[in-house]
Amino acid sequence: MTPYVMGPHALVGREREAMDLPVRGELPVGLAGTFVRNSADPAFGAGPRYHWFDGDGMVHALHVADGRVSYRNRWTRTRKWVAEHEAGRPLWEGLHDARGPLEDTANTDLIVFDGQLVATWWLTGQPMSLALPSLETRGPATAGGVPLPRMAAHPKVDPRTGDLVFMGYDVMRRPWVTVGAASPDGRVHTTPIEVPHPHVPHDIGLTEHHTILLDMPLGWTTKDSGKRRLGFFRDRPTRFGLLPRWGAGSEVRWFETDPCYVYHLSGTWEEDGEVVIVGCRIADPIPDRPSTDERTPRLDTIELVPHLYRWRIDPVAGTVRGEQLDDVPTEFPRVDDRRWGRPVRHAFHPRLGAGPALTFDGLVRYDLDAGTSTFRAWGDGRTSGEVVFAPRPGGTEDDDGWLLTVVNEGDRASTFVGWCARTLEPLFEVPLPFHVPQGFHAEWAPTS
Ligand SMILES: [Fe+2]
Repeated sequence: MTPYVMGPHALVGREREAMDLPVRGELPVGLAGTFVRNSADPAFGAGPRYHWFDGDGMVHALHVADGRVSYRNRWTRTRKWVAEHEAGRPLWEGLHDARGPLEDTANTDLIVFDGQLVATWWLTGQPMSLALPSLETRGPATAGGVPLPRMAAHPKVDPRTGDLVFMGYDVMRRPWVTVGAASPDGRVHTTPIEVPHPHVPHDIGLTEHHTILLDMPLGWTTKDSGKRRLGFFRDRPTRFGLLPRWGAGSEVRWFETDPCYVYHLSGTWEEDGEVVIVGCRIADPIPDRPSTDERTPRLDTIELVPHLYRWRIDPVAGTVRGEQLDDVPTEFPRVDDRRWGRPVRHAFHPRLGAGPALTFDGLVRYDLDAGTSTFRAWGDGRTSGEVVFAPRPGGTEDDDGWLLTVVNEGDRASTFVGWCARTLEPLFEVPLPFHVPQGFHAEWAPTS
């Protein structure tokens, strides 16, 4: 049985809500909006070969308004969810069993774009539009009323233009990678990208002028009678691709560096003629000699030992310089989303706890300009998932605001917490009446 169904990863299996929750401490003046967390929660339960990524997309929401906090969770009504509920049984196999295409669950990421909360899926699927704060599924997400194309998790909104920048991939058929952009006025653009191998990318970056692609040598092999196996091809480089925002795939320029895997980027920007990429680098995700240390978090064969890393691409010289910035393992990085594509100073990275399942035991606040960091533990055996930065209305600096997440004490207690992003001082806690699992990605949707 996978550890991703127990403790902080315990499943929920139902939809609930609770109003006017008790608040310990003080909600910050100006904090108004909805904290949302996407998660995988199989509507028909988890079988013995359940994989963490399989479950139907379930969004948990903590809505803050007029000094009050309320909670609700809802499954996203994807095509899969609707078809299986009409049939009264599961219709698709999971990652460990399926030999054909997997079905989209929209369970991975959340982003606010063009007045919608958009839910996306890690393996590329139909982005779904959700209403806030009700979490009602409106249907396929759109840009100015034009349907958005299929995309993977982690599209980014360019805060200067409001454009959505996204990529999709397909390990079964060409084109293996597609990149695109969409604007709130209904302009939607996609272009195929030629890559030599069907790798499994996960994130995408943007700068003032470019979309940044990651082509890392982690991909599926199908040696065992068509059954999927993940492989790390350390004889291949990692490549960063720079593409003009609305350009054709033929315009992409690739820059090679050492093989590695990166799930998530902290920030990407242009500086002094170079392109800077900051993220969480896993040097060897599938070692020839797997770790025997049970404290090493893992996801099947992947060992999750990521470190803060910075690459600098010199587009003129065609070179990439890389530098590890910390030896503390962190993941699920977040910054002030208003800074995407521009230099960020502060990044907020949860620190990995001891395995076997991925959890976080506290938060590292990085000052990338000063090269310093501070850490604060959640304490008392608590763990968390992703932590989001909510800017203080009117503030401009990228640590002037609050850090929000849900902390878990196993499957026994879940608490919505808020910290000061500058001092890491706890400001408030809202004990929740229901278990809210660690899940995947979170977002702060301020009340407009
Ligand atoms: Fe992700």
